[in-house]
Amino acid sequence: MHNDIGSIVLTEEQIKAACERLGKQLTEDYKNTVPLCVGILKGSVLFMTDLIKEIDTHVEIDFMDVSSYHGGMESTGEVKILKDLSTSVEGRDVIIIEDILETGTTLNAIVDLLGYRKANSIEIVTLLDKPSRRKVDIEAKYVGEKIPDDFVVGYGLDYQEKYRNLPYIGLLKEEVYS
Ligand code: PRP
Ligand code: MN
Ligand code: MG
Repeated sequence: MHNDIGSIVLTEEQIKAACERLGKQLTEDYKNTVPLCVGILKGSVLFMTDLIKEIDTHVEIDFMDVSSYHGGMESTGEVKILKDLSTSVEGRDVIIIEDILETGTTLNAIVDLLGYRKANSIEIVTLLDKPSRRKVDIEAKYVGEKIPDDFVVGYGLDYQEKYRNLPYIGLLKEEVYS
C-alpha cells in the first residue's frame, strides 16, 4: 500500500468484480444497439478501460473533459467543458462512464447537453456513488459501490492530480491534506 494511504476502500479484486458485474448487465441491456460509451476525463479512464473489456457486444468510445473540482477537495459547482466529443450523439444510445458521482453537478450538465444534442437514450454508469453529497436530482442506473462521504483517491481519482495511478481506491491519511 502507498505510504500516503491510510486505508483501502475498494481492493483491486473488488474493482474487478464490479467491472465484471456491470459489464454483464451492459452486455445484456445493449445487445440490440451499438452504444457510444462516453468517458468523462480524467477520473474515469482506468474504470472505463477495465469496464469495456467486460462488455461482450459492439460499443464505440469517446471522451469529454468536464471539470468542476479544479484540483481541490470541494466541488465549486461550476462545470467547464474543456474537451468535447468528436462523435455526434444524435440518435445514439449513450452510456456515460464516471469514476464517482457526488453532488451530481458534472453529470447533470453532461446529461442536459447530450439531451439537447438529441441522444436517443442516456444512462450513467459510475464506479462509486456518494449519495449523501447530492445537490442535484440525478441518479446512475449502474453503480459499482455506494460509499460514505470520505475523500477517496486512486484508480483514476486524484488529489491535486496525484494518486490516479493507484490500482485500488483508498483514503488519504489526514496528514497528507491538512
Ligand atoms: C470529479 C470526478 C467526477 C466529478 C464528481 O472530477 O471525477 O467527474 O468530480 O463530482 P460531482 O458529482 O460533484 O460533480 P474532477 O472535476 O475532479 O475532474 P477529474 O476527473 O479530471 O479529476
Ligand atoms: Mn471527473
Ligand atoms: Mg479531480
